[in-house]
Amino acid sequence: MQKILFLKTTDFILHKTAAVLEPGSFSWKAPSNIALVKYWGKSEGQIPKNTSISFTLDACATHTKLSFSPDKEKEHIAIQVLYEGKVKEDFKPKIRQFFERITPYVPFVKDYAFVIDTRNTFPHSSGIASSASGMAALALCVMSMEKALYPDMTSGYFYKKASFLARLGSGSASRSLQGPVVLWGKHSSFPESSDLYGVVYSGAIHRVFEKFHDTILLVDKGQKTVSSSAGHALMKGHPFANQRFKQARENVQILAKALREGDMERFIRVVESEALTLHAMMLTGIPNYILMQPETLAIIQSIRKYRTKTGIPVLFTLDAGANVHLLYPENVKLEVNRFISEDLQKYCENGQYIHDRTGKGAVQLL
Ligand code: PMV
Repeated sequence: MQKILFLKTTDFILHKTAAVLEPGSFSWKAPSNIALVKYWGKSEGQIPKNTSISFTLDACATHTKLSFSPDKEKEHIAIQVLYEGKVKEDFKPKIRQFFERITPYVPFVKDYAFVIDTRNTFPHSSGIASSASGMAALALCVMSMEKALYPDMTSGYFYKKASFLARLGSGSASRSLQGPVVLWGKHSSFPESSDLYGVVYSGAIHRVFEKFHDTILLVDKGQKTVSSSAGHALMKGHPFANQRFKQARENVQILAKALREGDMERFIRVVESEALTLHAMMLTGIPNYILMQPETLAIIQSIRKYRTKTGIPVLFTLDAGANVHLLYPENVKLEVNRFISEDLQKYCENGQYIHDRTGKGAVQLL
């Protein structure tokens, strides 16, 4: 039997090294991900209240170059942030907070000055959250520095710690490093699972789920009206919180069975229910939020009608916003593309959507 490398918080604290890196840089491209079972609700330290499971995406990604040079004299972590080559002051607070959170685990960052040069492959104002791919790419760059300082590091440790660090930036970022299916949050049926980092889902995956498409229908390209932090906070004291966390754990198990058996009907039932439950939590919270737009509902109704009429397995999921992720297997791609242009595109802002698919995870750039 294969031994499981299960790591605790203390395993991520480094012993001291005298090594110092010459000025240099590391670059990574990290993808976005779409949750099938949603993470919504957390405890202190970005610990999820329930297990979540996601498809890693491919086309929607963040490219980040982290340049560093030794600088021990300064009091605070020195960072400069560029977005598409231009100074971006409003990204700084979140990145500074990320560096502050990760410093206990990568204390060497105090000894360098950084320039972070980042860009997304998807339009900035598309309503697609870039925090998952952005934090994952940055965490990987920091881990490349750690690997240069501690060359004996295994690849298993590298990815677990990169996910651990990414989680401290944004919970769902812990699922944006590897692929094609990632599990995050302790679950009794998956001994390798952890609240501290995401792991590649180790269960069997039927071939119908091997290559899946995700077309993101851009209903509302504006900034999110409710931040993730406010959304997670809503789950504290939410009247249905405990029931919801229990349901998510059960849904992970049901989804695992569907993935194994190629059971599309069950897959659709769970994934759509998860999306609607996420929104139901917002609708029934105190305060409450309505994040769907009339077009979101029109798309959902059209998908269900089309599925009933044609028997084609196409389904939706939602993030904490109005955009709709349309999921479908490879073998119905042509029909579904026709369905999108004939029936769904009209509900998208400026007729815009983005074709994406499941991917293998982040890649280091030269
Ligand atoms: O990673 P956060 O804190 O932005 O939370 C994201 C939560 C959802 O995207 C709504 C669901 C999920 O599991 O990705």
